[in-house]
Amino acid sequence: KQLRKAVIAGNWKMNKTPAEAKELIAAIAPLVKDATVDVVACTPFVDLSAAQEAAEGTNLQIGAENCHWAKSGAFTGEVSAEMLSAMGVKIVIIGHSERRQYFGETDVTVHDRTRAALDAGLTVILCVGETLEQREQGITNELCAMQTKIALGGVSEEELKRIIIAYEPVWAIGTGKTATAEQANEVCAAIRETVKELYGCAAGDGITLQYGGSMNAGNAAELLAQPDVDGGLIGGASLKPQDFAAIVEAAT
Ligand code: G3P
Repeated sequence: KQLRKAVIAGNWKMNKTPAEAKELIAAIAPLVKDATVDVVACTPFVDLSAAQEAAEGTNLQIGAENCHWAKSGAFTGEVSAEMLSAMGVKIVIIGHSERRQYFGETDVTVHDRTRAALDAGLTVILCVGETLEQREQGITNELCAMQTKIALGGVSEEELKRIIIAYEPVWAIGTGKTATAEQANEVCAAIRETVKELYGCAAGDGITLQYGGSMNAGNAAELLAQPDVDGGLIGGASLKPQDFAAIVEAAT
């Protein structure tokens, strides 16, 4: 675990105007300035410039929440990985369950968007996770393995170094219901096994895995202490500077 990079990333979802983004980044940056882990804030597209400007000279990295699979073209309302890369964005979330749930995102489009992001030189936070119904069916580990395999189809071992996988149980997102540390670790371990199957032991041991779903200042330390949990993808708590900083602190 010590060999892996710990990454704490905020997912702001559809929150904050550019002016508010500036304020929030300015509030977070001093609180995390001594962090020994990577700290990222993924913001809505329209906030990226303001957030980048506010983060300049700090150790806070700014990322996006999605990107399209095509480089350009007739895709009204979409933003390409190339466009993100051109504006200096280095990291992007792909396949968040809210995209899968509300915007028709499938394992195939997640794969295609991942491909495009890698081609544009970005690092991907790839989200996988089961619904409550799927957990109750007992298919969590297989499902997460399958989502991982489909997304990573055609991704080379070299490119894998720019992939972070976030395990986000859908039933734990925004619900205040957190997976237990054991549940989080069990699924992360299964995802790591899948990566080992695909790329070998060293690659599996090297990949950073995050947990996401109601992670907060109170439960972060226990979750992050798990052997296969290397970081967190934080929704609600990433909008609260003190709470986000406490999670970063717990990862340090
Ligand atoms: O991507 C982060 C996420 O879905 C978790 O959201 O609000 O439960 O921390 P939240």
